[in-house]
This record gives sequence, C-alpha cells and structure tokens, in this order.
Amino acid sequence: MNILGIETSCDETSAAVVVDGKLAKSNIVATSLKDHQAFGGIIPEIASRRQIEFIAPVVTQALEKANLGLDDIDAIAVTQSPGLMGSLLVGISYARALSRTLNKKLIPVNHIQAHMYANFIQYNDYQPPSIDALPAIGLVVSGGHTSLYEIKSFKAMKLLGQTQDDAAGEAFDKVARLLELGYPGGPVIDRLAREGVNNTIRFPQAHLDSPYDFSFSGVKTAVLYYTQKHKATPTYNVNQIAYSFQESVVGSLVKKSIEACQKRRISTLLVGGGVAANSALRQQLVNAGNKVGINVYFPPMALCLDNAAMIAGLAFHL
Ligand code: KG4
Ligand code: ZN
Repeated sequence: MNILGIETSCDETSAAVVVDGKLAKSNIVATSLKDHQAFGGIIPEIASRRQIEFIAPVVTQALEKANLGLDDIDAIAVTQSPGLMGSLLVGISYARALSRTLNKKLIPVNHIQAHMYANFIQYNDYQPPSIDALPAIGLVVSGGHTSLYEIKSFKAMKLLGQTQDDAAGEAFDKVARLLELGYPGGPVIDRLAREGVNNTIRFPQAHLDSPYDFSFSGVKTAVLYYTQKHKATPTYNVNQIAYSFQESVVGSLVKKSIEACQKRRISTLLVGGGVAANSALRQQLVNAGNKVGINVYFPPMALCLDNAAMIAGLAFHL
C-alpha cells in the first residue's frame, strides 16, 4: 500500500510516500526556518504563508522521487494536530482536496504519535527495528512537546506524563536566545556543549509529584540568573553554560524515561522529535539503557525533525 503523507504543522512543509508503513520511497522537506530567524522564534503568520507556497511543489517532488503518479497512491495521510492552526490548515485543505478529487481515503494522524513511529521507517541506510519491539515506552522531545507514552500498539498509545511548562526543545531555544546564540537553539547548544565540559556550574532539575512529568522553566530561569550574575566576570564561558544546561535537561529526560521502562516492565524505548537529534541525549540514553537491559531506539537524524514519512508510516496502521 502506497500512502502519500503530508505534514505542515509548523515551519516545515513535507510530503512523503511510504510503502506498507515501512519503506520511505521519498521524503521531501521544505522549511521557512530562515524567515523566522531574525525574530528568534517561529512567526505563525509567516509560517502559514510559506506553507501555501511550498505545498504543491513539495507534493509533486515527493511523487517524482518515489517514481509514482497520483494514480498509484492508495491513501492520503495528513497531520491533523497538534500544531499551528494556520500551518495545519494548509496541509489539511490540500490533503482533503486530493482525497476528494482522487476518491482516495484520507487518514488524519497525530503529530506526536508519528514522531515515535519514525523509529520504524526504513530510510536510506537506516534499518528499523521490527514492530515486534512493542510494547515500548515512547519519549517525544520536540520544540512543542515533551511527553512519555506507553505504546502497546500504534492504535493504543497511553500518555503517562508530559511537561508542565516549557518543552525540552523550547528550553534549548530560549536558553540559546538568552546566550545570544540564534534560533533554533538545540543544534548550537549541542555543538558548544562539547567544548564546555565542566563540574563547576550546576543547574537544577525539577522534582515533580508525578514521576512521568517534566518541567524545564526552572533550569531556564537558573541560566538567566547565572548569566546576569557572571556575564561581566572573566570566568564567564558560554560553552560551559551550554554544557551544564544540557546536562540538566538530558539528565531528567534520561532518568524519567528509563524509570518509566522499569516501572512498567518494558524493555524498549522509542525516542522521537527534534531533540532526539541531541548527541548527549543519544549517548546517555543508550548508556543508561545498556546498564539495565533496555533497548533504546532513535530515528535517523532526518526523521527526528518534522517530516511526512512518519505521518504516512503511522497512517498505514491506523
Ligand atoms: O520536532 P521538531 O522539528 O519540531 C517540533 O515539532 O517542535 O523539533 C524542533 C526542536 C527545536 O526546539 C530545536 O531546538 C530542537 O528540536 N533541536 C535540538 C537539536 N536539534 C534540534 N535540541 C537539542 N539538540 C539538538 N541537536
Ligand atoms: Zn514535531
């Protein structure tokens, strides 16, 4: 079954063709990221206007790359929510129009659940685990979400907990902004942190009643106070701040997701979302998993960020 996926939840416009929920024959991504950089964050009005410009050529390219025509498509999948309303509407309207004119089924997909599904897509030289790896705990860490799920099947995902304030990626972006590192903050903090390993700066981790909930606004405020206090001193070192901030965020993500696996007696952990590209998170989760016999999976880098292959892939099971 060839499913054409469409994803327009934020600043990326993506279309992909995925066969039988597994093999990505194409995954085209256009982004308006550069248009937002001067503002230090996504401007929804700009994002939705770019979606309108990008959507038709991106879908055309996805079909061309897959060497398929619209007649070869068996169903159309589209991100239904969550996301920016204007951006979502572009993809949904386009997908609905295609579905009506071609008389093919339209499958609405939840963006967060699709981020976890990205682990099961065969993409370039990435070989995914078998679907038998379920049940799993799913950790979704993106610019908009930080959530833990228990996944019995892709039709039955139970939300265990989520952030009570900022998402992990949002914290990376906000801290990068106050360190004057530009947008998005995750990749640059990841890079600088490698040069900033230290034991001197310690930022807190939130303690919450629910073992599965997260909070990152405290560490962000701690970084703000630290910079205000130390900026004029000779020992002020942005790389070290980036490292210590990242350690705090990654530390709590690792601790809670491994604990979730242990408490629910589940030995597979699926990570997804933009922050899953973080090198420290990848390394520390794999190490922690190895120690206690938990298999940790990350999608290939291109499928950590927003993409339509994960939408088309999950739609097959729905
Ligand atoms: O999943 P995504 O593309 O969009 C959302 O659905 O939000 O995630 C984007 C987020 C941004 O906040 C960005 O700073 C973060 O992912 N990110 C990273 C890294 N690469 C992207 N955060 C930490 N380390 C990275 N290497
Ligand atoms: Zn996303």
